[in-house]
Amino acid sequence: MCGIAGYVGSKNAVEVAYDQLKRLEYRGYDSAGIAMQTPDGIRVVKKAGTLNHLRAELDAHPLEASCAIGHSRWATHGGPTDANAHPHFDFDQTIAVLHNGIIENYLELRDELVAKGHTFRSQTDTEIAAHVIGLEYSQGGSLLEAVRRAVKRFRGAYALVIISNRESETIVAVRQASPLVVGLGEGENLLASDIPALLPYTREVIALEEGHLVELTRDRVRLVDADGRELPIVSKHIDWDVESAERGGYDHFMRKEIHEQPQVIRQCLAGRITPEDGVRLEGTFSDNVWAEIDRVNIIACGTAYHAGLMGKHLFEKLLRLPTDVYYASEFRYGDPVLSQKSLAIFVSQSGETADTLAALKLCKKNRIRTLGIVNVVGSSIARECDRTIATQAGPEISVASTKAYTAQVIVLSLLALHIAQVQETPGLRVEEWAQALRDLPELASQVLELEDEVISIAEKLVDMPLCFFLGRGADAYVGYEGALKLKEVAYIPTQESPAGEMKHGPLALVEEGVVSVFGATEPFTFDKVVSNMKEVQARAGTVLGITCDSTGTIAKAADLTLMFSPSRFDFLNALLSVIPMQLLAYHLARLRGCSIDQPRNLAKSVTVE
Ligand code: M6R
Repeated sequence: MCGIAGYVGSKNAVEVAYDQLKRLEYRGYDSAGIAMQTPDGIRVVKKAGTLNHLRAELDAHPLEASCAIGHSRWATHGGPTDANAHPHFDFDQTIAVLHNGIIENYLELRDELVAKGHTFRSQTDTEIAAHVIGLEYSQGGSLLEAVRRAVKRFRGAYALVIISNRESETIVAVRQASPLVVGLGEGENLLASDIPALLPYTREVIALEEGHLVELTRDRVRLVDADGRELPIVSKHIDWDVESAERGGYDHFMRKEIHEQPQVIRQCLAGRITPEDGVRLEGTFSDNVWAEIDRVNIIACGTAYHAGLMGKHLFEKLLRLPTDVYYASEFRYGDPVLSQKSLAIFVSQSGETADTLAALKLCKKNRIRTLGIVNVVGSSIARECDRTIATQAGPEISVASTKAYTAQVIVLSLLALHIAQVQETPGLRVEEWAQALRDLPELASQVLELEDEVISIAEKLVDMPLCFFLGRGADAYVGYEGALKLKEVAYIPTQESPAGEMKHGPLALVEEGVVSVFGATEPFTFDKVVSNMKEVQARAGTVLGITCDSTGTIAKAADLTLMFSPSRFDFLNALLSVIPMQLLAYHLARLRGCSIDQPRNLAKSVTVE
């Protein structure tokens, strides 16, 4: 999710790498660094904070180089500090390494290295990777060969870029489930995590495939596969303008971020579910603290609040742990009952939401244990909470939150499973859950394939005056999020409620033209959901069912259906059903000509109460 830059050629590589990082700035980051080859060995300059901090450091000691690599980091392992910024050296400073992604088995590798006497300067998984590659390189042979052998030891997602002080004007990179693109120039070659960082220099681009490695010099690009076999160079001409390149070719960040969700789920699970330990969440409370907690309060705003509702559903179902969810703005002034045995969980994408931060301060004042579930690792909420779990969704740019929601629900699920494991909850099927979570990215990709069907449904419903979002249990909670998306980006009035509540009032609003979106993923409620659908249709309302029901019960009752393949857990199916709702909101907004990434009256980070 972070930015990668690399240049070898006749220009000053330090300035090119810096310029490339500048072009990736829109993605968000919290530290940055550049490694360059100099006659005295590799020099690394890196700083926490914005690129201006790095610029000041570079200006203080101007350097020229023909080969340099650069990185803008979005903190995952370890806070946004100078030491944790990339690039990282290996043990004897022969190579410098930068990295996007997560090395899942880094703790295991670190233990091995510690046993061999290695010490580390940072808290990152990247430095561990640098030491492992450095050890391979010390056995002799080329850097490319050493990297190829070393990555066989890594589990997880990574794009790694390496330079060495033994091979001048050479950059080596490898990609596994984390994007990396090579730019072909005249007497110069480049690489980057994203195309916008290449466009001023070249439009001839190679997107590295899974497991492939590349070696760049100023005159040559060599591609090999994981077994070291040479591969042909096939480049593609990119004619996107810079703005559309920043959106990865999508028309809007919202759509890009919706489509990133399979990768975000992978990223969020990386290193947190292992075959040996089941669920492993680093840095939360110790087992005896979990044993003491008898109540959970989840506190958040907007989409994060909706993720909290999903957390409540699972905590109560799986753990029988009483859980309340509060709007942060209400919690703060609502004189909440706070017990010392309770845990307050703060969910936030930005980590800067003023209401959530104020509620957190109230809990801290009352000495309540606090846990953050936050996307921006260096943010105020992440720093103030006793413990914080990163959602690993990467920078979210669209004001309407999509991928952050999914990541928040995944983290809440992991947390529930972690507690259940610690407390040895009877009947817990940890292995089944772990497998279901591992299967989820693929199922999410399949749900995204419904997009053409969503578009044709959106075309039919584009003029609806009002949209209900209805469901039971977790489906109702997901409906709240679907409704928020529709309001935010398509400016369509919505009415969201548990399906059973309809006849207690909201049903009066149903008439011809009004649409009701029903999430239906829990088989034991299908009969009741069908009855609610009939109530709507009897008043001339249109019913859209979003379901994984393969028996046809829901499809037969609905006027329109979006059907996807199920996971083995109903809860995860409810989560998957948010994707068609996000797509529906997006395409309705597009058809209605709305400003999608920056909806009227809204801001991405709400830092005022
Ligand atoms: O950064 P946070 O998660 O704390 O933000 C909370 C809400 O402001 C946010 O989720 C908002 O509701 C989004 N616009 C929803 O799409």
